[in-house]
Amino acid sequence: MRVVDIGIGTGLVAREAVKLTGDPALVVGVDPSVGMMSQAHLPGVQLFEGRAEAIPFPDASFDFLSMGYALRHISDIDAAFREFHRVLKPGGRLCLLEITKPERAWSRMLLKGYMRGVVPVLARLTGSSAESAKLWRYYWDTIEACVPPDAVIDTLVEAGFTGAKRHVETGALSILAEYQAVKPG
Ligand SMILES: C[S@@+](CC[C@H](N)C(=O)[O-])C[C@H]1O[C@@H](n2cnc3c(N)ncnc32)[C@H](O)[C@@H]1O
Repeated sequence: MRVVDIGIGTGLVAREAVKLTGDPALVVGVDPSVGMMSQAHLPGVQLFEGRAEAIPFPDASFDFLSMGYALRHISDIDAAFREFHRVLKPGGRLCLLEITKPERAWSRMLLKGYMRGVVPVLARLTGSSAESAKLWRYYWDTIEACVPPDAVIDTLVEAGFTGAKRHVETGALSILAEYQAVKPG
């Protein structure tokens, strides 16, 4: 399978794709941040500067598309999902990993307090820069403002995907979600 990992960042998801395909030449990464990609250290994986909304590849280039924890950074998911559909081959599949806001109010308060309050303070106390505390607050804000799960599924269907479904890892807060869909063959 030829795999494209969108929002490859520092490459944790792409590293797993390399293990699964067994050949780094079958995996390519796309990210708007050259700085993030410079930390990926994945020999053999080709990296391309680009955005989910304008993927720098021709139609039907890939069998599989992954995107790990970048959905909440994308401003236009209609455009992004149309691009995902375009670059996948007929029968191609996608898997999007994302952190979802906890459904229960108490879980939301707990996580928000932890990410916007506790962690930034700990970061400052342990000598991290003021910028680091700001980034932790931004991290929560992106989770809180992320497109709701139903809208993600609806937008995948509107883009032409079938079998769009969401699975949530069950745990204390149940915030790790996975969306899957198929481009009809
Ligand atoms: C949390 S990191 C991703 C981590 C990465 N998937 C991994 O496996 O290590 C989010 C990434 O999304 C990227 N990003 C932001 N806006 C994007 C966009 N419009 N299209 C694609 N990637 C984007 C950021 O540059 C950043 O590298």
